[in-house]
Amino acid sequence: MVFSWIHLLSALVSAVCLKRIIAHLLDPLRVVPGPFLARFTRLWYLVCTINGRTHENIGALHDRYGPVVRLAPTEYSIADLDIYKQIYGPRTAYEKGPWYSAFKSPEKEYTIFTDRNNKHYAQIRRKYSNAFSLSNVAQYEDTLNKCLSLFCKKFAKIADEKSECDLAQWCRFFAFDSIGQMAIGNLRVMELERDEHGILSMTHASTLYGNIVGRIPEWHAWIWKFLPTNMSEKGAIAWITETMRKKVQGEVCSTVTTFTDVWLQQEEKMSQEDIFLGLATVFGGGSNTSAVTIVNIIHALWKHPEVCEKLQIEIDEAVKTEGLQGGVIAWETARRLPYLQAVIKESLRLIPIVGVQAPRTVPKGGDTISGYFFREGLTVGLHPWSTRMNPKYFGDDAAIFRPERWLGDGEEAKRNEYYHMPFSVGPRTCIGRHIAIFKITKAIAQLVYLFSFDITMPKGELRYHSYSQVEPDIVHCRVELRRPVCF
Ligand code: HEM
Repeated sequence: MVFSWIHLLSALVSAVCLKRIIAHLLDPLRVVPGPFLARFTRLWYLVCTINGRTHENIGALHDRYGPVVRLAPTEYSIADLDIYKQIYGPRTAYEKGPWYSAFKSPEKEYTIFTDRNNKHYAQIRRKYSNAFSLSNVAQYEDTLNKCLSLFCKKFAKIADEKSECDLAQWCRFFAFDSIGQMAIGNLRVMELERDEHGILSMTHASTLYGNIVGRIPEWHAWIWKFLPTNMSEKGAIAWITETMRKKVQGEVCSTVTTFTDVWLQQEEKMSQEDIFLGLATVFGGGSNTSAVTIVNIIHALWKHPEVCEKLQIEIDEAVKTEGLQGGVIAWETARRLPYLQAVIKESLRLIPIVGVQAPRTVPKGGDTISGYFFREGLTVGLHPWSTRMNPKYFGDDAAIFRPERWLGDGEEAKRNEYYHMPFSVGPRTCIGRHIAIFKITKAIAQLVYLFSFDITMPKGELRYHSYSQVEPDIVHCRVELRRPVCF
């Protein structure tokens, strides 16, 4: 009996292997290089994702094989910024790939992030985008100022105690608090110095799940059934639901405007479910990304004291002439500082936060990309980590942190701007990009004005991990006051 089962199993495995080998031999794209295993199975890509160094692993493939590489039998990574707009640009017919479906709860509706249908997506994006428009960011300034004051008080205490702190952790706390306050008017992770409602750990767990299971999305509904069933009744989801319910039903009066208020005010009224999904997406996309960018900038300033000094002079001068608002540098002041904006751009260029390609499905009729014809239904995506240091796009010193490359309106600055797409482009561009720049600009201006940071660990380059977002492994620092902190 055992003997016959083994035979049956071997026959099945052999049949599957044979089918894959034949499919590969008949595939016109079999010439695309990549790991041997990736020609026949998604296992290579799945294991690479689980290892948590996707940015480096895919980067190594591009270094070895060139701008087009295979990641799985029907999935390819492209390191060619000249085709970015062809895949992602305003008139694109490409839609999001199957990977995104693992970020959607099977019981819930699509969110701005998970909706793969371009037409349907355009309708839902309209409902949410108002809260994130450039003209609306200033109305969240009081809220952000409150969070920034607390953030600075915490650093002032660390400076006073002459102790070492976990910079990455503090920036995460600040990023979650500020997005929580702007989104729903609540969250006090910094004040309590702990993840009170489990929102940080939930965000981490759900993105980890989506990233990994997204490599085998057809298993998502099945794997989902085995996840703990009480997750939605307690913890972060229950907290978001309850806080939102109180806000929607007018049980809490707030003097500040939140994303939820903007959504509730618009004509096209949003349901509680719409608002819940909007909030969940905002926590997922809008917290860690800003935190990591702030850490990267502080680290770059520490590594390049000449840049730090130039930035300090620019900020100090601006405060001298334009003053502060309740101790905090105003958005109107900070947004117009050219060197500060150049530092932010340079950090986003050199350390793109999204470390994997954002996968897209090749549309009807197929398409030629970087010299290869990809038939419809295949998955392709641009890998920003592999293009960031390419001299073709950012000049001979592309590997160096040099904010000056963004200044002026010469040929160099124009070329850099053309290739600079940290928030992606086209219909699926980052909906929170203005909020992100608002938060990062104000936070860096304020931190540089008040403190100087000495990175104590690691002593050299940062080491990163990534499932999709690239995050530093560990960053500790000491803080010194440049002037008294008085809020
Ligand atoms: C430095 C900060 C940020 C960076 C570098 C960044 C980058 C990106 C990129 C590259 C995408 C496209 C991803 C894809 O196609 O799969 C994206 C999408 C998105 N981002 Fe951001 N983001 C940042 C901050 C934020 C913030 C603050 C929010 C919310 C307030 C946010 C919300 C979103 C959402 C909802 C999407 C999905 C949009 C869609 O699919 O149409 N992001 N972001």
